[in-house]
Order: sequence, then C-alpha cells, then structure tokens
Amino acid sequence: MRYSLKAGAIEKVSTDCVVVAVYSKGTLSEEATALDKACGKIISKLVKSGDFSGKLGETQLLSGPTGIPAKRILLVGVGPKNKLASKQGLKVLNAACKALMQLKATSAHIALASLEIKDQDDAWLAARLAQQCEDNSYRYDTTKSKKAPAIALKTVTLAVATGARRKTLQDALKHGAAVGKGINKAKELGNLPGNICTPSYLAKQGNELAARNKSVTTKILTEKQMERLGMGSLLSVSAGSAEEAKLIVMQYKGAADKSKPYAIVGKGITFDTGGISLKPGAAMDEMKFDMCGAASVFGMMQAIVELKLPINVVGVVAAAENMPSGKATKPGDIVTSMSGKTIEILNTDAEGRLVLCDALSYVERFEPRSIIDIATLTGAAVATFGSVVTAMLSNDDRLAKTLLECGDSADDPAWQLPMYDEYQKQLHSNFADLANIGGPRAGTITAACFLSRFVEKQKWAHLDIAGSAWNSGAAKGATGRPVALLVEYLRRQKA
Ligand code: BES
Ligand code: MN
Ligand code: ZN
Repeated sequence: MRYSLKAGAIEKVSTDCVVVAVYSKGTLSEEATALDKACGKIISKLVKSGDFSGKLGETQLLSGPTGIPAKRILLVGVGPKNKLASKQGLKVLNAACKALMQLKATSAHIALASLEIKDQDDAWLAARLAQQCEDNSYRYDTTKSKKAPAIALKTVTLAVATGARRKTLQDALKHGAAVGKGINKAKELGNLPGNICTPSYLAKQGNELAARNKSVTTKILTEKQMERLGMGSLLSVSAGSAEEAKLIVMQYKGAADKSKPYAIVGKGITFDTGGISLKPGAAMDEMKFDMCGAASVFGMMQAIVELKLPINVVGVVAAAENMPSGKATKPGDIVTSMSGKTIEILNTDAEGRLVLCDALSYVERFEPRSIIDIATLTGAAVATFGSVVTAMLSNDDRLAKTLLECGDSADDPAWQLPMYDEYQKQLHSNFADLANIGGPRAGTITAACFLSRFVEKQKWAHLDIAGSAWNSGAAKGATGRPVALLVEYLRRQKA
C-alpha cells in the first residue's frame, strides 16, 4: 500500500472512499459537516433516521453520494468528544481500516485531521493509520488451495490541516507502514506449520533478508560449527530431531562499524513436542508458534532495514525442533553450555532456555549495548498475564523502564516481574552447575533467572511472549507481537 498526504477541501477530493468521523449522538466532525453540505445533507439525514449514532468504532458506508467526486463515504463513530484519547483513537482507526479492506475501493482518503486526541498528536495518528492499514490487510492463505481475495486498496491519502508539519507526518506514515509490515512478517512466519517452517526455512529467511538488503549480512551457524563453539546446551534440544538446528546471525549496519550494536535474540523452536518429557496431546498443534520470538526478530529486522535506523543491530535466532527419539536428550542428562556452565536437564520441555543460553553467550562477542531476548518461554506467563501483556524481566532497571515505556507507547504493552536473588536457588542441582527447571512455582521468574546466569556482565532484558504471541480458539493465529515494542525501542536509541 502507498501512503501520502493530501491537502485541500474535502468536498473536492476525488477518491474511491473518503473517511470522516461522527461523534456520539450524531454530532458531525468538521470534515463530515463539509461533506454533508456538499452532498445534499446525506449524512445528517442518516443520523436523523437513527441508523448511525457515532458510537465508538461504529462504521457505515454511503455509496454513490452526489455533489462530490468521492465514490463512497465511510462514516466512523468516535464516541464522545471529551473521551477521545489514544485508546479510543486506535479503535477508530482499526474500525475504519477493517471496513476499508472489505471494499473494492482502490484508493481512500482519510479525513480525520480535526479529531483532537488528548494524549497524542497528528504524527501519532498518521503512524497508526498506516500501521493499522497494513495490520488489517493481512490474511493467511499460504497453505490453502483457495487464496483469499486480494485487497483492493492500493493508495491511502491522509488529509492534512493547514500548517501541519508535512515532513513529520510523511515520516510517521512511513514508520507506521514499516512497523505494520514487520508485524505481518512475524504473523506469517508464526502461522506457517512446523513441517514448512523448520530451522532451515528460518535460516533461508535470514539469507534472503541479506540478499535483498546491502545493510544486512547474515551468517548461519551449522550444528558442526555450534559444536566447535561448545554449544552443548542448544544442541541437546535438536538432538532428537531429524531437522538440523541453526543459529541465524543477522547484522544490520546503519551506523559506523565501530558503533556497538543492540542485540535482539529470539527463541526459534519450530515445533515443541516437549521432547522425552512429552507434552499432552491437547492443543499441541499450537507449539508450532514456539518460534514466535524468532518471528518477531525477523519482523523487527525487516522494519529497521526499511526505516534505515541510524544504529547497528544484531538479530540472532536460535532455531531448533524439540522432538523425542532414540537420540533425544533424556531427563537427568547433563550438558555443557558455551559459557562452560554445566546444566542438568530435568525436563526436556524446558528447552527454550537451553537454546537461548548459548545464543546469549554467543552475542557477547559483539559487546552489545543491550541484549533483549524474546521467547514463548513459559506456560506460567500465560497463567499470569493471559494474552494482554508480555512478561518482562531484566537485570537493569533503566532498560526495564525504557522497555515498559516503549511497550505502552507502541500499544504493545509489557509488565515487569521481579528477579530477586532468592528465586535463583530454585535452580539448584546436585549434579550440575544449575538445573533447567525451578519447580512449579514462579515459573516465568525462574526461567528468566536461568537466562540471567548467561548474561552476567551485560545489560539484558527478557520478554516472555508465551501469552501475547498468538491467539487460540476461533481466531487462532500469530499476533506479530512484540515487533512494535522492539522497533519503538530501537527507534529511541542512538549510535
Ligand atoms: N513453549 C513452552 C511454553 C509455552 C507453553 C508457551 C504453553 C505457550 C503455551 C515451553 O517450552 C515449555 O514447555 N515450558 C514449560 C517449562 C516447564 C517444563 C518448566 C512450561 O511452561 O510448562
Ligand atoms: Mn517446551
Ligand atoms: Zn517451548
């Protein structure tokens, strides 16, 4: 989709669909009033009939209005004027975008410049408009024989008030579109089944990103190379699988070579059976989503490449499949991680931390300014937060605070859990330096405690997206979280 700004009188704009707002009780916005005048009171007549009240998120299409060049009018309800804040604003944009995607309109003109959103400015509205358009245009049909009908919408113009900062708004549109497309990339990778989206498939994604963009170089570490690096922990997870594990290292250069990068590490378990500690059968199919952390790294990389962020970033994906077999790791087995620490694997279903710990040790070589890992790590995070927020734990208070702020401002929220030392003792092992599980209590925290042992000298935060990465039930599918949070974090950083 293409996004641009358009100034001028709304009743003169030729477009397939013009979008205007109506407040609750049918009070027309400035733009709706101007249209109404030009096209024979069609909007006020509708409102008078009682068929459209302007309730938040309500939409109504008016086809073939006369007196204006626009072919359709899409009314969107914004609710009471004094309650309009970013949360309501998002609902408005979401409703409008959703309705637009159903139409055969190839162009749309969004005339919402008069809306006063309490806690945000026009740049926010522009960015979110583009993000929502992309987000709402996503359909999964890759493995269906009947493809979803193509979205007709090609060009979206945003009405600008006189005196608006055009460059800022243009940048905001670009930013929002890049985030939206990054989210869709993460959704698509997450939704692909485990027999297609294997570690090798993810590695190919990394190579393709580098092939398409000069600013990215990708290196894929094979199991042989990982063995030489001493990644006994990561390799213990793929031991039972016919699919080779891959460590995918993508380096984005947007700043001078000497500028230290930000490291983003994703859990890429392309299917998690639990291994010998086999999971129960119910809903096991959803363990194809166990690579959503990795998917968010790919989505984030795509977005920052498109935005040409002026920093260096290294995106690392630890990709493996967790299967039972005669060669699989068994409970009680002890492995040596790249850090030299030995790990007693008491439960082969706690495999995410086993691949991540070696990936975290690996990124040390880049001397990153911060490390953020993203993982569908614990069922306990689902029990604690449901699908609303991402669990966040960190060894650095400033980094934690920044991430919480970024989550809020990107509407991709996270919530912090404590990492007090007292929890560490749950990982005690009689036979190794540490165990890979900490018992049934405080599961999200002890999982993070495990990871913290492998980033002792670095600023690090961990995002447990087990609840937020995908929806179950009728709307089963990946959400693309936390791409928006990650891009917001990186956008705020300097080289
Ligand atoms: N991928 C799962 C976590 C998960 C479970 C995410 C359900 C979303 C929904 C992870 O590998 C896992 O199995 N974790 C175990 C850890 C336990 C054995 C300590 C869990 O949370 O049950
Ligand atoms: Mn598991
Ligand atoms: Zn898992």
